[in-house]
Amino acid sequence: MPNEARVLIVGLGLIGGSLAAALRAVGYAGTIQSCDPDAGEIARGIEMGLIDHGDTRLASLVEGATLIVLAVPVLAMRSVMQELADLLPREALSGTAPRVVITDVGSTKAAVRDCALAAFGELPAGLVLGHPIAGSEKSGVAASNPQLYIKHKVILTPSRETAPAAVARVQTLWRACGAEVLEMDVERHDQVLARTSHLPHLLAFSLVDTLARQDERLEIFRYAAGGFRDFTRIAGSDPVMWRDIFTANRDAVLSSLDDFEAGLGRLRQAVEAGDGDAMLSIFDRASHARHYFDSLLNQTSYQVEYQMQQQGKLTFRAAPGGRVAGRIRVPGDKSISHRSIMLGALAEGVTEVKGFLEGEDSLATLQAFREMGVAIEGPHQGRVTVHGVGMHGLKAPAGPLYVGNAGTAMRLFAGLLAGQGFDTELIGDASLTKRPMGRVADPLRVMGAKIDTAEGGRPPLKIHGGQKLKGITYDMPMASAQVKSCLLLAGLYAEGETRVREPAPTRDHTERMLAGFGYEVHREGDTCWLNGGGKLTAAPIDVPSDISSATFFLVAAAITPGSNLILEHVGINPTRIGVINILKLMGADLHLTNEREVGGEPVADLHIRYAPLKGIDIPLDQVPLAIDEFPALFVAAACATGTTRLRGAEELRVKESDRIQAMADGLATLGVEHTVLEDGIDIVGAGEREVAYGGGRIDSLGDHRIAMSFVVASLRAGEEIVIDDCANVATSFPGFTELARTVGLHVEEEDAGNTEERA
Ligand code: S3P
Repeated sequence: MPNEARVLIVGLGLIGGSLAAALRAVGYAGTIQSCDPDAGEIARGIEMGLIDHGDTRLASLVEGATLIVLAVPVLAMRSVMQELADLLPREALSGTAPRVVITDVGSTKAAVRDCALAAFGELPAGLVLGHPIAGSEKSGVAASNPQLYIKHKVILTPSRETAPAAVARVQTLWRACGAEVLEMDVERHDQVLARTSHLPHLLAFSLVDTLARQDERLEIFRYAAGGFRDFTRIAGSDPVMWRDIFTANRDAVLSSLDDFEAGLGRLRQAVEAGDGDAMLSIFDRASHARHYFDSLLNQTSYQVEYQMQQQGKLTFRAAPGGRVAGRIRVPGDKSISHRSIMLGALAEGVTEVKGFLEGEDSLATLQAFREMGVAIEGPHQGRVTVHGVGMHGLKAPAGPLYVGNAGTAMRLFAGLLAGQGFDTELIGDASLTKRPMGRVADPLRVMGAKIDTAEGGRPPLKIHGGQKLKGITYDMPMASAQVKSCLLLAGLYAEGETRVREPAPTRDHTERMLAGFGYEVHREGDTCWLNGGGKLTAAPIDVPSDISSATFFLVAAAITPGSNLILEHVGINPTRIGVINILKLMGADLHLTNEREVGGEPVADLHIRYAPLKGIDIPLDQVPLAIDEFPALFVAAACATGTTRLRGAEELRVKESDRIQAMADGLATLGVEHTVLEDGIDIVGAGEREVAYGGGRIDSLGDHRIAMSFVVASLRAGEEIVIDDCANVATSFPGFTELARTVGLHVEEEDAGNTEERA
């Protein structure tokens, strides 16, 4: 609650009135006064109980005010600031704890800052410029709405001169009204608004005016359908208000208009030259960006991070019991999907991909290549067409490449981008930002790459292009396919031979796919190598179902008496089948049928029926081959007879979460006996007891595999298992809960505050 004796709102319209209304609604105990040139508005504000007192003259109100909010139009700021400068003693606005704080709500910030400088001769410590991103088509104090700011963003743009204590007071004011407060510098604020709001208005006004001029009788509008209507709705906005905004935010609007004109020029050229690839590339990128934006539209967010925070709110509820039967196909392999886009983009020719995983991780890779100028069609039901640009055809992206939760994307990109002629920056979500990237940055630097990381070798990664890379021989300190693949991709651009030795076999999809694209990759024992300077030739890719996703259903069937399940078309690359070997060692009734090879990768149908499981010591050589499957295997262990012991799995601690600890915490909630070790875990299973453990509330820590594992655990639980922070399941397994329900699990999705089942 604001600790202000008196709030003075200058300008009692919709924005100022709603602020007063919101403060009243939350029980603000101080005095609220207001100044407005319209005495009628003041009288209405008092009558509505929004303000205690008001006047048309500022002079009579300033004394005693501790927080002054300027809610007047931007072009009226100059005179109001001047009046305040004349009325307020300078020391009231100075020092580390100014007695009086002034803030504003103007929609452009540099212009308001200039008014302040002109009036005060400096930026006072007590001045905190701000902009609530909220409004309505209505105006006047009568339209005040106490909820106008709830869950809306307020952007504050403090300067170097602003006292942190003053910023804190303005934050408190807006948070009390239910708003989320964030900070930006003035220039960024004006650029962001120029691009997201002012430019579209300008274009709409201009298009309608252009057409109207061409047809004085406005006949043409009779034939204008949905496209015209959608594009130009905002051309009906208030002309005076927009004149003021374009006057106040002139420079930022002009710079966004320059960018727009350049983009329009590129498109014009493509149309003129009949360059279908260029058109496709532009339209595809735009269409996907628009779809992505659609998913943000129901919120008011400006930044991806806020979307992520929202997503964190998805909860799964898994009722105890159920059975597992049927014939299903799980989505495409994540590792292969990432690589299909990467190699397809660098190839010469058109790569047709089937079975592509439409999960957020691989979509992030796809979007990143679009941002580097690659035309990519789809995905439509797993089909993607990549129009390769050749080894040297990528273009510098306009901004940082955001790869979300995807470690594979970030690490493989690091190698690929180290060899490009332009600079790039790789950023990810909160989980990825904690993961180690030194494991790729270090050997890449030895190859001659220039890469900056944040502290401790964490993302973001800043890659300086235009470096000459040379091949190296690298002894990997950990068994990592991502590190191996990163170096091989950098090796494509390096002079001479790039050799990587792995301490244990890791997935070899990169090597297989490179070979499929006609690039020679050699292997002898634990070492593989290639020579730089070659080229890739497009080839069709048929992505098998992901054995890592199939694992959840393998374990589900393995622990549930009476189950009988067939998983079709699952990739059974020998470097990925640890889960099959481990489950068989535990006694699972699991058979491979219909074994065949598609596009260089072996696949099979997996048939699993319930059989009692026994605890085992997991063979060390199986650990890298089942590295992503352990969360689910821990659930199998909890249902087996005896103890299962895992060692040599310290890599689990640096996955999307610390998977040893995350699983141990969840197992503890269920009451499963276990002992955590640095590199593994011992789990004491319940054996054939029908109810193997209890239920409870589990935090998945935003890790998709932790979330899905505990859904599977519900089959043998005595009570409901509620799993929080599940939105990231969409990174690897879109449609998981739906598929789980079709085979007999009882799981529902629940958004925060919404108990509806989502289809
Ligand atoms: C992957 C390699 C593995 C795996 C990840 C995908 C890949 O990571 O855990 O899910 O596609 O190369 P590491 O290389 O870090 O073991």
